[in-house]
Amino acid sequence: MGRVPLMWWKDELVYQVYVRSFQDSDGDGVGDLRGVTSRLEHIAGLGAAAVWLSPIYRSPNADFGYDVSDFVAVDPSLGKLEDFDELISAAHGLGLRVLLDFVPCHSSIEHPWFRERPDFYVWSDAPANNWRASFGGSAWERDSVTERYYLHSFYPEQADLNWRHPDVRAAMSEALRFWLARGVDGFRLDALDRLLKDPELRDDPPATAPPPLPIDADDARLLHIHSRNAPDIGTALQTIRDAVGDAFLTGEVYLPVLDLAPYLDSLDMVFAFEVMHSNADVQRLRMSIAASLGTGKQGWVLSNHDFRRFASRIGEQDLRAATVLTLSLPGTAFLFQGDELGLPDGPAPDPPLDRNGRDAFRSPMPWDRSTHGGFTTGTPWLPTFDPPTCNVADQEQDPSSELALVRRLISLRRGLGDQAQLLPSEPDTIVLARGSHVVAVNLGDAPRSAPVVEQIVLEARPGDGEERGVVPAHGAWIGTNIR
Ligand code: GLC
Ligand code: MG
Repeated sequence: MGRVPLMWWKDELVYQVYVRSFQDSDGDGVGDLRGVTSRLEHIAGLGAAAVWLSPIYRSPNADFGYDVSDFVAVDPSLGKLEDFDELISAAHGLGLRVLLDFVPCHSSIEHPWFRERPDFYVWSDAPANNWRASFGGSAWERDSVTERYYLHSFYPEQADLNWRHPDVRAAMSEALRFWLARGVDGFRLDALDRLLKDPELRDDPPATAPPPLPIDADDARLLHIHSRNAPDIGTALQTIRDAVGDAFLTGEVYLPVLDLAPYLDSLDMVFAFEVMHSNADVQRLRMSIAASLGTGKQGWVLSNHDFRRFASRIGEQDLRAATVLTLSLPGTAFLFQGDELGLPDGPAPDPPLDRNGRDAFRSPMPWDRSTHGGFTTGTPWLPTFDPPTCNVADQEQDPSSELALVRRLISLRRGLGDQAQLLPSEPDTIVLARGSHVVAVNLGDAPRSAPVVEQIVLEARPGDGEERGVVPAHGAWIGTNIR
């Protein structure tokens, strides 16, 4: 793509594609790489700068790609390496960068390393401590072959890799470079707070307060000072940084803002989970936005494949106002496929495919009104959310659609500059000064006063900016300062 401009991600939008649910190209009901390539124009047309692909590596799919059995191969259900090369060149041709979701912390127990290189993992003759797995139960699982126990921070099918082992670091660095050589522009790094744990495997003490971010109730009984986020995490992250040079790195670090500093030393960005989990709670939004702005390196998240969708968490009433708020914060924003339509959580199959209950957040992308929304000609692997009520084709025709709003916000946010400051404001409202612009958002039931602006340049809903100095109930606008 010629000379890479410095910090191409600045003020841009990254679009997250959950490959299995985006577009199926071969009628097997599972989205695939060719399907993604065929829909890249939708992503470019939104104004996104990059696409982040959920894991595409070979996987037995206990955690749909997050249990990797070969870090340098494409899963056959998603396509071939050649399909990936085509995707990269098509994306680059449209001016879109491509980010892969890299899963450094664990591999599938079906990865050949699990048997051939047992030293790559963390073993013990008996459960070594009281650590809990994120998806429930002990973090130690008995292996019937060796009769020993291995550590797993997530599902038992996902054995934790020992990042204190130099060969692990070397092998993972090699995998990262493999993909860079194929043209990827960066990585979203999975579950980074689990990369390094206490080398002595000491017990976590009991929790004394509720967890800072929502987690499994069982896991919340412990204070996670040893099972994750080891003080020397920076050394492992530096290994990753050294492997990728100046490629873009954003981290999934599931920690409160105060604990993020050692991660930000090596990464370009981390996701602002505290803001994401503030939903439509104005007090929490104010506090978490202020804290996140302070780091200068937060990626704003509407939603992702692990949590309830943006539209479902926020609720219909506030959806448009909250969209304006999230997409007018300074820096990079991450949008999960379907959030540009205000797609709510979908129907969950029974029995579930994901044992941790995340199926409803991953329902197939609805492209049009047809039975399976144009996602597949076969039977979709997950049920769709009522395509006739929410789909790309219809929203394309409607200038008052969520899609139209998102598109306008993506183009507007680039021009808002670097400055961002929360101004004191009325209850239920958030007022953000963005250099020459002001953003006013009201998530309450009554109209509230807000700064008087020269000109309204964007309204969450038609008419939201009509009355001078007022932001209506469940409304929002962006205006220019009076000069
Ligand atoms: C991250 C992923 C999630 C996955 C977990 C284990 O949190 O976002 O989907 O289950 O890591 O890899
Ligand atoms: Mg397919």
